[in-house]
Amino acid sequence: MTTANPTPSPSSIRRVRVREHVNPLGIQYQQPTQPPDWTEIYRPWGLPLSLDIGCGRGEYLLQMAQRHRDRNFLGLEIRQPLVHSANQARDALALTNLHYLFCNVTPTLPGLLPANSVHQVTIQFPDPWFKRRQQKRRTVQPQLVATLARLLIPDGEVLLQSDVLPVVIAMIRCFEAQGQFVNQAGPGQLAADGVYPEHIPTERERWTLHKGAPVYRGYFRRR
Ligand SMILES: C[S@@+](CC[C@H](N)C(=O)[O-])C[C@H]1O[C@@H](n2cnc3c(N)ncnc32)[C@H](O)[C@@H]1O
Repeated sequence: MTTANPTPSPSSIRRVRVREHVNPLGIQYQQPTQPPDWTEIYRPWGLPLSLDIGCGRGEYLLQMAQRHRDRNFLGLEIRQPLVHSANQARDALALTNLHYLFCNVTPTLPGLLPANSVHQVTIQFPDPWFKRRQQKRRTVQPQLVATLARLLIPDGEVLLQSDVLPVVIAMIRCFEAQGQFVNQAGPGQLAADGVYPEHIPTERERWTLHKGAPVYRGYFRRR
């Protein structure tokens, strides 16, 4: 199956056709991707780092990296052709504060970055995997949240978004259960619309808003 172009794209990322979904539990995705030499990737390494997990075509980070030259941005994505075209767009703009990495975030994230190196995490419109027996394929699982607790700096922020309410509720519960994150809206609560004023809508978010459908959010800070 291939994805259609939901709304006109604001960026220069070439549109490659890809499978709509990848099963992250597939045997071919169980090897962690080895971290590159970050000092070779970012010039300079050591700026505040933002992580976008399941970045898709990468348009959100392409915009963010141009707007915030004083920060570094890393997109993680399991569909390799998307990563390739996103890095080509990055190169065409000569951005030295942006990188996209092909990986399955579940086995890769624990060995990817030093502790206390991430300032901001976004998990935006993760694949919902509606069927109960497939929910173990969802990106946000207790192990991932525990890894994020180790990688984020104290007070580091986490934005969660989806157009599927049960998916956002499940993510909020998972972050609250971990114990190292404080829901800024109060326990069990969704975040208000304007929680993240600097936010640039992702591709999926633009498609959702274009339909007039709601977006649900969670917003956390690391203790
Ligand atoms: C529905 S898309 C949303 C893309 C983008 N965040 C947006 O809001 O437009 C979810 C993305 O997460 C990626 N993804 C799903 N599971 C993943 C995993 N375990 N590791 C890395 N990426 C994953 C999918 O390939 C897909 O591109």
